[in-house]
Amino acid sequence: MSTPLLELRDVAKGFPVRDALGRRRGAVRAVDGVSLVVPKGSVLAIVGESGCGKSTLGRLALRLIEADQGQIMFEGEDLRGLSARGLRARRRDMQLIFQDPFASLDPRMTVEQAVAEPLRLHGIVPRAQETQRVAELLSRVGLRPELARRWPHEFSGGQRQRIAIARALASQPKLIIGDEPVSALDVSVQAQVVNLLQDLIRELGLTFVLISHDLGVVRHIADRVAVMYLGRIVEEGPTAQVFGAPRHPYTRALLAAVPGQGHANAPLLEGDIPSPINPPSGCRFRTRCPYAQALCAEQLPPLEGLGHVAACHFQGSLPPALAGQDVDTGGERLRRLQAYFTDQTQKQGELA
Ligand SMILES: Nc1ncnc2c1ncn2[C@@H]1O[C@H](COP(=O)(O)OP(=O)(O)O)[C@@H](O)[C@H]1O
Ligand code: SF4
Ligand SMILES: [Mg+2]
Repeated sequence: MSTPLLELRDVAKGFPVRDALGRRRGAVRAVDGVSLVVPKGSVLAIVGESGCGKSTLGRLALRLIEADQGQIMFEGEDLRGLSARGLRARRRDMQLIFQDPFASLDPRMTVEQAVAEPLRLHGIVPRAQETQRVAELLSRVGLRPELARRWPHEFSGGQRQRIAIARALASQPKLIIGDEPVSALDVSVQAQVVNLLQDLIRELGLTFVLISHDLGVVRHIADRVAVMYLGRIVEEGPTAQVFGAPRHPYTRALLAAVPGQGHANAPLLEGDIPSPINPPSGCRFRTRCPYAQALCAEQLPPLEGLGHVAACHFQGSLPPALAGQDVDTGGERLRRLQAYFTDQTQKQGELA
């Protein structure tokens, strides 16, 4: 097997929690022992409720924040072992697209300056060819090259996200991580930007990690899906299998249909997510799991399986999921799961 473009091995990151007097009172275990493989040319989606650690994981993978433990292998080389200089050189291979294109573009830079900055930083083209290259990048993302002289505030959210994508493409990266790249956009333009991303992934042979709670988008572009719960991956596998035949009780709970009930969009999972400051022992999901047994409190279940993995001690003996139903990744179950994530995200937004 060839070396994966990106591989995380047992990566963890905690953020200190302080009380009103600034004294350290433990840590939020935002990412708590994650291992993942992202093969070259693949699209991996990371899904999960708000606060489960998706954004932290994305930043760790690019070493935009420092991990507490683990290895972050990029083309077989541990990013954590690189010097500041080595990391700067590597940066051209890895780019992040943020959710908010308003925040990610500097209002004091014209579009041309914003897109040319990575060209210059990484010495991609000689200065004399910059304008030409910026024009190419803009047309590549569906913008007219004449717009290069304009300022970010002159553009709509969708256009700004296109500019941010052009900027991300400028350094000819091998890996792009999109952290909710269309979530902040009007629904009417989301599909256009998703289609653009999908075209770029295909045509440029990009490897893409898509962080999203929008399962419609995930189903549309991802080859594989990783489901996160409280800082850990609980299930990972081919998109159709994870949505169509989920193996972990958490994914199943999210996707399960309730026969005879009219509330097609009602969240099915009862109870709140436990605090990441003091997560349950053993399986993080045990406080909400209908199948939990004594062992679940004692031992952390490892990810097990071939190609499609889940972290559950009893995955081999659970009742069949979604028995008698076909693998339907576009139907009712997906809508229910979507409704659930949307609900959680809104709740989180209200709290913030
Ligand atoms: N810089 C930070 N300082 C303190 N806590 C943080 C920080 N960033 C994230 N967290 C916490 O880590 C957990 C995971 O956050 P995040 O990675 O943003 O989740 P997601 O992207 O899935 O919503 C949350 O409990 C969040 O409050
Ligand atoms: S390990 Fe136990 S608590 Fe965790 S998902 Fe499996 S059955 Fe439920
Ligand atoms: Mg996030």
